[in-house]
Amino acid sequence: MIKSDFKRRRFSLLLSLVLLVQSTRGFSASLARNNNRLRRPTLHLIPLRTLYPKDESTINEQSCLNANFQLKSDPSFELCVVEEDDLPDTARFVVESFGSEAIRLSSDMTSFEQFILQPTVELLNGYSGIVAFAEVLAGLRSRVRGRLTQTMGIQGPHPAEEGAAGMALVLVLARPVPNDTKKMNWRIDIIGSVELRLQPCDAKIPFTLPWLDRIERRLWNKQTAVQQQPYLSNLCVAEAYRGQSIGRALVQCVEDIAGTVWGYSKIYLHVDVDNTAAYQLYTSAGYKDVGQRWNPFWAGSAAEIGYFVKDLP
Ligand SMILES: CC(C)(COP(=O)(O)OP(=O)(O)OC[C@H]1O[C@@H](n2cnc3c(N)ncnc32)[C@H](O)[C@@H]1OP(=O)(O)O)[C@@H](O)C(=O)NCCC(=O)NCCS
Repeated sequence: MIKSDFKRRRFSLLLSLVLLVQSTRGFSASLARNNNRLRRPTLHLIPLRTLYPKDESTINEQSCLNANFQLKSDPSFELCVVEEDDLPDTARFVVESFGSEAIRLSSDMTSFEQFILQPTVELLNGYSGIVAFAEVLAGLRSRVRGRLTQTMGIQGPHPAEEGAAGMALVLVLARPVPNDTKKMNWRIDIIGSVELRLQPCDAKIPFTLPWLDRIERRLWNKQTAVQQQPYLSNLCVAEAYRGQSIGRALVQCVEDIAGTVWGYSKIYLHVDVDNTAAYQLYTSAGYKDVGQRWNPFWAGSAAEIGYFVKDLP
């Protein structure tokens, strides 16, 4: 099993197969897009500060600039809203940050045993990395689709909207870097990411693909109308930049958007309580355990993942 947040991939063989097919489709699409991108001279990151109306300058000063402020040494990094072409780089960053290694050889093994098993393990880990990348990419793409097609900026989706699940706001702390000396091809260097979307507040741990959520709710007979509330996910900071308050600034930023721009008074998230860094970050930022868990009989260890909420000012 893939570790950390990928714990939530705990479902039946049937759902895994469906997911795999969908993932493979997403992966092929991403390859095609990557090929297209090689011909593009620019990327499409939109600096977040350009999307805020002038009268919300406090957010600019406190959150956006806070996130950049941590990088005074390198101001070329900026907090941006991702566009379609930025999604493969974003998905790769998220997978690398969470870690997609499926199997790790025990250090108790002799060097001979390690020598024999290593190639197979590398193959399986490589495969799991590709599947994880394709899964995350397909999920991101389906969640940001509505926002990209309707060019909604950062204004929140209407909670009653059928397509609220397709309106995620994905932010990255990033900079474009040239791939060649002639600066014809570009890629994004990402050091932080966070996602904000509306999600029914019934403690369900979301799949990366929204339509799988609908199936699981139906299976668990949890179709009762629950309120859609802001939901924070995919908070990641590149290893080399951890411990510099970037994670905290990203959390603060999406809280400001959910409260001030979207007009909500609560924000929810899931956190693995064994993930010390994330758990400490959220609890010290004022998140409290809701006390509710999504625990259908097939949930396995995912039922232990904490569901937390914070009251927004
Ligand atoms: C969790 C994560 C985003 C934290 O990012 P970060 O930029 O290093 O965090 P910050 O520097 O803003 O730290 C904020 C607080 O988190 C806590 N924290 C961060 N790293 C910690 C660690 N290694 N151990 C214990 N607490 C830690 C501290 O309370 C810290 O506050 P302090 O600096 O006042 O002590 C980062 O470790 C990460 O990307 N992890 C992998 C992905 C992941 O697990 N995401 C969480 C999904 S729920």
